[in-house]
Amino acid sequence: MKIDSKWREYFPLIAKSNSAYLDSAATSQKPKNVIASSRVFYTKYNANTNRGAYDLAVNATKVYEDCRRAVAKFLNAKNATQIIFTKNATEASNLVAYSYGLDNLHAGDEVVLSIMEHHSSIVPWQKICKVTGATLKYMYTNSNYELEKHEIDSKITKNTKIVVISSISNVLGAINNVDYITKVAHKVGAVVIADISQSIAHSPFDVTKLDVDFALFSAHKMYGPQGIGVLYGKQHLLEKMSPFLMGGDMIEYVTEQTTTFAPLPNKFEAGTQNVAGAYGLKSAIEFIQNVGYKYISEYENNLGEYLYNQLKALPFVDVYAPSNKCNRSGVISFNIRGIHAHDVASILNSKGVCVRSGNHCAQPLVSYLKLDSTLRASIAIYNNSQDVDKLISALTETYNKFKKYIKE
Ligand SMILES: Cc1ncc(COP(=O)(O)O)c(C=O)c1O
Repeated sequence: MKIDSKWREYFPLIAKSNSAYLDSAATSQKPKNVIASSRVFYTKYNANTNRGAYDLAVNATKVYEDCRRAVAKFLNAKNATQIIFTKNATEASNLVAYSYGLDNLHAGDEVVLSIMEHHSSIVPWQKICKVTGATLKYMYTNSNYELEKHEIDSKITKNTKIVVISSISNVLGAINNVDYITKVAHKVGAVVIADISQSIAHSPFDVTKLDVDFALFSAHKMYGPQGIGVLYGKQHLLEKMSPFLMGGDMIEYVTEQTTTFAPLPNKFEAGTQNVAGAYGLKSAIEFIQNVGYKYISEYENNLGEYLYNQLKALPFVDVYAPSNKCNRSGVISFNIRGIHAHDVASILNSKGVCVRSGNHCAQPLVSYLKLDSTLRASIAIYNNSQDVDKLISALTETYNKFKKYIKE
């Protein structure tokens, strides 16, 4: 079976390479227009935003605010002021934890997370729960790596104040039912934080339709540059929240002893911003819109199925992904039984195959699965069936070479 990507040539780093880059869940490769955007910004628009009275600075501010509007439209947010630029998903998660969690949680309250969450959605809430006396609770997957409705229903209770859920697990590739979880959470008055870092390159996320209270992601996993991320929040919640970082440009008025804060979104954007990064993110959005989510999902579903089926066909490999096709994405974890994931990843590297190995910043999940690490292959629009074939033959060669040492 041959599945060929017509978009690969847009990605200079891999266009002509013989390597199989299968680590887009860690960071995606960048298309030409995103790479060019940095040069365009610095050669045409560079100045500090919200500060200078001269034309160049005014224009830089306009460019930055255009980027914010582009993100708002992309997510279908009602207002651009609901979009806060951060440095990544991790900072966005910390922003909500410190600015919303600290002021709104009390002893007896519960924060409910799925066991699939990335450390960036776990560690900040551990800290906030410790400070406020709230309790952290987890929703666990079934033996098929899925979150079942009865687990969601039983964990979200009248004590739940915050629910954190990733749209796609960065380890299992499981697609979570954000819509259902949000409805259950809202019934008990809890706010929902959706971590859409792993889905936004692959499927649209409509914050208004899904009615989540917060959504966050990093640009670098959706073909954009590193160093820029997004927090979306409902206007009334963001307005009530206190700032996370203090400093220049997030203030209204500062006296020797006190400060009043700027309106949204500046209240949450202290200091000089990554405007070139925002411009790169806008270019990444344009790239995705140019390809089209419909095309992306059809192409990736097809290639994802090929990847899953080829891995499942290897008798010496354990695959950790939902068997139900509808709940599965192009992120798949697996192991060669009896060989450590790091060893396999190093051998794959020597054969020109780039996959991630380890706990994927999701140690609670990996422990829950009674594993200590996995290999993870993840695809994007530039991958093709040859990449998958390379992975499969490299795994087969690795197994054949080492099988005599494997203890059954
Ligand atoms: C689901 C998920 N959330 C959050 C993050 C954190 O992203 P970043 O390191 O860009 O902040 C990752 C990164 O792997 C992720 O996969």
